[in-house]
Parts: sequence; structure tokens; C-alpha cells
Amino acid sequence: MDNSDQVKTVKFYSGEVTPLEMHKVRVVQKLNLLPIEERRECIFGAGFNTFLLQNKDVYLDMLTDSGTNAMSDNQVAAMSVADDSYAGSASYYKLEKAIREVFNQQYFLPVHQGRAAEHIISKVFVRKGSVIPMNYHFTTTKAHIEMAGGVIEEIYTDEALKIKSDFPFKGNMDIVKLNQIIEKWGAENVAYIRLEAGTNLIGGQPFSMQNLREVSAIAKAHKIMLLMDTSLINENLYFIKIREEGYQNKPIKDILHEMLSYTDFSYFSGRKVSCTRGGGICTNSHDIYMKMRDLVPLFEGFLTYGGMSVREIEAMAVGLYETLDFDVISHSPSFIKYLVDSLDQRGIPVITPAGGLGCHLDAGQFIAHVPQSHYPAGALAAALYIASGIRGMERGTISSVRDETGNDVLADVELLRLAFPRRVFTLSQIKYAEDRIQWLYDNRKLIGGLEWIEEPPVLRFFVGKLKPIGDWVDRLVAKFRQDFGDSL
Ligand code: F0G
Repeated sequence: MDNSDQVKTVKFYSGEVTPLEMHKVRVVQKLNLLPIEERRECIFGAGFNTFLLQNKDVYLDMLTDSGTNAMSDNQVAAMSVADDSYAGSASYYKLEKAIREVFNQQYFLPVHQGRAAEHIISKVFVRKGSVIPMNYHFTTTKAHIEMAGGVIEEIYTDEALKIKSDFPFKGNMDIVKLNQIIEKWGAENVAYIRLEAGTNLIGGQPFSMQNLREVSAIAKAHKIMLLMDTSLINENLYFIKIREEGYQNKPIKDILHEMLSYTDFSYFSGRKVSCTRGGGICTNSHDIYMKMRDLVPLFEGFLTYGGMSVREIEAMAVGLYETLDFDVISHSPSFIKYLVDSLDQRGIPVITPAGGLGCHLDAGQFIAHVPQSHYPAGALAAALYIASGIRGMERGTISSVRDETGNDVLADVELLRLAFPRRVFTLSQIKYAEDRIQWLYDNRKLIGGLEWIEEPPVLRFFVGKLKPIGDWVDRLVAKFRQDFGDSL
């Protein structure tokens, strides 16, 4: 009997709670761990922006889980049978079949990655003055909606932005506020309601099926479309299965179909959900499909590739089927939980409960002596790279914007995100991260802030450059040498 979609646990005789890999490693990539003095040089060269580090200078790349996941043997094998053609590729029809079987969605528009789907959706459905309520924004989502003249209303629950919480569904939308917002703007001005699965910027946090059902009922009552961003649906699905009453014994496929049945349309970044590249828009509505269809050949490529290579399309089809396997969707969340729980038990400020994207350190508390105007999340990202060669991502005020008067819009939370690319790191590598974070926490008073030297006007976090305020970097390096001797 195939029980691949059942919840499984492996208990250790010692009683220790340890996540166990249900795969073996058959292709490896050599890593570099530079001495701290060289790491110091690299971070100065990168303008204290971890996006600008070169991968060869990074030991553990925890910048993102986007496009950096390990593929399965079956995905790699599928790539070798790809059917090259501009129009009508057999590879594309395999993907369309996968979308129908895995997501239960009849119509599909391929695009080169998630933000390309956002571009098309915003171009078609967002007008000047449109409002788009959502559980939380994602950077590229917000940029596309605002560029099309729309306004975002974030409707999260009171639990969402609490760093420490045991609320299982911090990605839920607040139903009372949703009703108020629709009333305030008028249903006719709401372009669609957007629910982001595995809500990225609040820590990879899921919404519950119950919440989704309620949001959908409100949308239907007002004849507003419901759009789901399914880039992180694997992990949201996993949390519904293990945390929500009544779903433990339901097949993964049924849960996924139920989730999508509440939507009018959805889109995903294949860089996350299928461990490939690419992306797509799915719907069961011929009308919605037709409204967007003609923009795909214009911006992306013909309808049977949408800017993706046929090799990626083959791997995506297989990757989507693999999301129906409990071993596949549980791996990342169980590794993340291991690190989050361990840091939490040591009193190090991290977002709890553990989510499905990575471990999020709360830089606001970690280095509370660094004011928000000196970018604590960016400073902590740089300090962790210096101390360990680990590259995380700033998710705080640097990732925010300036208002019309030129002042920083301070972020709700100052986070350092350590993403877990799926099936990439071993437990000893995670233990190394745990150790270096502990050292950094014990020496946190040494860390100082950052200031801009080059600040681009749009999405400044990608290529902007900063420098440290004062000589804190040198003091941190000296303390590392004192404590670790000749260790890398
Ligand atoms: N939606 C969500 C929830 C995402 O996390 C991302 C990307 C996108 C849309 C855009 O997709 O990158 O394929 O264009 N998140 C990446 C990250 C960049 O690092 O979290 P994309």
C-alpha cells in the first residue's frame, strides 16, 4: 500500500528529538569556508549587503529557498527527456497534466518565475484606485500592485507580528478587519483578495483551512475574486495536515484540492514549490484564463513554455507530483523546527512557532542597542556572515522604502531570515549555524549599525551598499580570534 502521504514519525531510543533525512545525497557540491579575516574583506566588498556576496565566499547559503533547492533523481532524469520546441512541446503537456492532477486546476499559464505572474495579474486586474486586501505583502507583489496603481491593505491577526507565539496559524487573515476593509473601500473597488500560503515576510507562517474557508465565503458573498499565492503551499499544506483538527489522516492531495477549491485563481514561483525554476498561473475559470492569456506570449514566451526551458518544465511536472509525498513536504519544516526550538530554548529571540521557510532571528531584540534607523537586521546579517560565513537575508527596514518626504518607513519587525533550501543542508551544518548564532548572541554588544553609501530608489535591498557605523567589525573579528584561536 502506498502510504507516502501519511504523517510519519521516527523516534530515537535516546529520546532525543532529531529530524531524520528520508533521502540520501548522491550529488555533492564542494563548499568553501574562508577565514574570518577574508570574510571581513568580502562583506566590505559587498557593501554590507548579503545579496552582493559571491557564492564562492559563502559557506552556508541561507539567503533564500528560491531556486536553490535540491532536485530529486526523478526530476533530474526527467530533464533528459525534454522535448525542445517553441510551440506544442510534449514537456509542456506533461506539466499541464500535473497541474490538473496535483492542483485540480484546468487552465494554466506558464511564466518564467513568480513575479512574472504577479506582473501579468496586476496588469490585468489592478487599476488606479484598486484595493487589494491580503494577509501580508511580499516585496515583488507589492511593487507590481503599486506600479499598476493599486493599494494594498494588509489584514493580519494580532498574533501575526508577535515574535514569540504558540499560535499555529499566524498567516490567518483577520475576518472582522476584512469585512471592515470591504465596507470602507466598497466591494466594487476590491480587485481581488490575496492570500499568501506560508506567509513569507512574517516568518513562513501558514493559514488554516478554516480561515481560508471563511475568507472565501466573504469573497463570494461580495463577488470578489480570491487569489492564492501558492509559492509556499507545500509547507502550508504540511502544517494544516499536522496542526489542524480533522486533517491528520486526510490524503495530501485531498487537502491541496480543498485549498485550491476555495480560490478563483492562484499563482506560484516554481523556484520554491517544485524545486525548479519557472512559475505559473492556475485557474478553473475560462473567463479569468482568457483575460490573461494573451499577455503571456507578449511578456514571457509562447503559451507552451512561458519563458521556461523545456528541461525545467519536465522537472517542474515531476516536482509538483512530489509535493504529494509527506517525506518531501515535511523535510524543511522539521529541520527549521530543530534550529528554532534550540535557539528559543537558549533564550535567543527567534520567531515562534517554527514556520516553513527558515529560521527568523529577531534583530530588534537580538541587538536592541542598535536603533531601527541604523538597520539592525542588516547589521545582524553582516555580523553573522563575518562570524560564520553563513549568508542570511535582511528582512527589515532596508527591505522597506522611503516615504514621499524621504524618511525611512520603519519595518514592522527587524528580521534576519535564514532560509532552508529544501533537502540541501545536513544536520551538522545546522548545528554549526546554531553554535555561531549562540556565540554572536553572547557577543551581541559588539555589533553596531549601518549607514547607506549607495541607495537605489526601487527595491533598494537588492543592490544598495552600506558601511558600518564606527569600528564594530574590527572588534568583532578580534573577539572571534580570541575565542576560537585558529578555527575557520
Ligand atoms: N510570492 C512569494 C510568497 C515569494 O516568496 C516569492 C519569492 C515570490 C512570490 C516571487 O517569486 O522569486 O519566483 O519571482 N520569494 C523569494 C524569496 C525571492 O527569497 O523569498 P519569484
